Amino acid sequence: MSQPGGPAICLSRRRALGGAALAGVGVPLLAACGGDDDAPVEPGASAPPPGEPLVAVADVPVGGAYIDTEQRLVVTQPTAGEFKAFDGTCPHARCAVSQQAQRQVICTCHGSRFAIEDGAVLDGPAPEGLAEIAITVEGDQVVRA
Ligand code: FES
Repeated sequence: MSQPGGPAICLSRRRALGGAALAGVGVPLLAACGGDDDAPVEPGASAPPPGEPLVAVADVPVGGAYIDTEQRLVVTQPTAGEFKAFDGTCPHARCAVSQQAQRQVICTCHGSRFAIEDGAVLDGPAPEGLAEIAITVEGDQVVRA
């Protein structure tokens, strides 16, 4: 089995979504990638600690995702008022997932796609889904539980 290792263009962005520019037309293959450290990392380790707000409810699109590549955080809203959060580190080769489209979160490093409902792999090469992070909704904020 070969490991990934092909060069990827890494880009760190504070917010990588918005629903725009997701048609794939004219969008260069850019990805937010972590360092070279292969040490295991606790899911959500880069996200704010328990009790801290992750994102405003209003910033999470219904049927889509808020993606923060710096904090490796994905917060989705599969249906109105239902929120989920996931570690934004792709299980394949640890790139940060960075795009969304058609109810999927996408890792542009090698094309893995994950369901916004549960983080499950829809298309590899990722061997498993995104790790879920426990959250609650407090007022107008999604908060890490
Ligand atoms: S790191 Fe390879 S698909 Fe995400």
